[in-house]
Amino acid sequence: MQLFARKPISEMLPEGEGELKRSLGAGDLVMLSIGAVIGAGIFASLGTAAAGEVAANGEVVRYGAGPALVLSFLLLGVVCGMAALCYAELSAMIPTAGSAYAYSYATLGELLAWIIGWALILEYAVGNVAVAIAWSGYFSSLLSGFGIILPDWLTHGYFMVNASSDPAVHGLLKTAPQFLGMPVLVNIPAFAIVAVITWILCLGARESTTVNNWMVGVKLLVLVVFVAVGSQHIDMANYKPFAPNGWRGIHQGAAIVFFAYIGFDAISTAAEETRNPQRNLPLGLMAGLGICTLIYIIVGAVATGIVPYQQLKSADPLARALTLSGLKTASMIVSAGAVVSMSAVLLVFQYGQPRIFYAMARDGLLPRWAAKIHPKYKVPHVTTIITGVFVAFGSLVADDAATYDLTNIGTLAAFMLVCAGVVVLRVREPERHRPFRVPFVWFVAPGGFAACLYVMTGLPLSAWILFGVWMSIGLVCYAAYGYSHSVLRTGKPIETVPIDTGH
Ligand code: ALA
Repeated sequence: MQLFARKPISEMLPEGEGELKRSLGAGDLVMLSIGAVIGAGIFASLGTAAAGEVAANGEVVRYGAGPALVLSFLLLGVVCGMAALCYAELSAMIPTAGSAYAYSYATLGELLAWIIGWALILEYAVGNVAVAIAWSGYFSSLLSGFGIILPDWLTHGYFMVNASSDPAVHGLLKTAPQFLGMPVLVNIPAFAIVAVITWILCLGARESTTVNNWMVGVKLLVLVVFVAVGSQHIDMANYKPFAPNGWRGIHQGAAIVFFAYIGFDAISTAAEETRNPQRNLPLGLMAGLGICTLIYIIVGAVATGIVPYQQLKSADPLARALTLSGLKTASMIVSAGAVVSMSAVLLVFQYGQPRIFYAMARDGLLPRWAAKIHPKYKVPHVTTIITGVFVAFGSLVADDAATYDLTNIGTLAAFMLVCAGVVVLRVREPERHRPFRVPFVWFVAPGGFAACLYVMTGLPLSAWILFGVWMSIGLVCYAAYGYSHSVLRTGKPIETVPIDTGH
């Protein structure tokens, strides 16, 4: 039973609880959501979701939604809405660094908390590998607009080339320069952007509200440009058939484009700074989710209207759709905006991952050097650098679709356990004060759990296998280290220096 030891919530609350400045309103939460959420999902994974994917050997990896992608977005809006409400209840109750990891420690016990922490690495670090690859796609497309063409072997990672069924890309295995008998296929722009972001974070940068507001402005502006220009070039013939692969395509499309919704969970950690959380948290989260869903539906409808949906399969589908329609200037504007937007997403998640490691190390589940704070810059520099190295080398060689899948499966697993956590805590500690309570909880929380599981089943077998391997490695690490070093079980606290959060 020790595996399921729960960390008491009272120990998790920051000192001086109740004195934290509650300054955020619902509008601020909406801006934060849009800032963290709109990125590679809509700019890049939309392509594979619409077109589907065929392996190099001709086997269908997943069926595309086609123009019915708009229904995938609608489905995900509802699924994420239920999960977001559950996050809101727990984050308002347990406002501490570590997000879903910390909530599950209090609700479901240490083993499941470890599993979630391990799954969150998929959401944050592997997710950023996917964003960096998408960034590189748009960056290369932007450069080509200026007549600068980077060689393909410097913008495509080995696994992306290996998985591609496009003969022009797959052929790179033969035509790329060879080193020790291996083709050299590396995504240099993706590697470089992660290196730059890591360096900035080591100096203690964090996105301010002002920067976030600018980023939101840029994101909305480029999507407005895409819709305004693209909608004048819609060919109604492209909408027929509307759902070429039926519900299976809509489901499997949703499973990959779920990536576009990731980030709401990160926003719920702002609960402790929200004014009147009972009203503003659900309002802000739901309005943010609603606005993003609406934007995604409109962008999806335009993208599948201007070109046949099969042509969207690329690293930069929105820019490509415009270029194929002869709209070169608009394509360059969209590429530039996408590059800026995705840099912001990279910063948010690259900032979050080391802090989750920090929370886990503080609990003794990771070695204590992971909780080290730089004396001058007051950031967890060791884990910031480790995360940077992992993500940079991952983006150098990884396949984009596989990284979306892996990120999604890990995030959906975390969402499921958060939904379960709400129910567990309602049963175990019904009297505890909840600044925000999920409405219709007996429907919303189990419904969110089941809905996330359903979306997960739309992912290809390869994602499940990788997820299984990743989780097994996690369990071995827990057995080898965390189990015997846990502060909760050994009772030996770890001396840590708090992170400077800017409060
Ligand atoms: N939702 C974020 C994106 O699409 C992770 O980039």
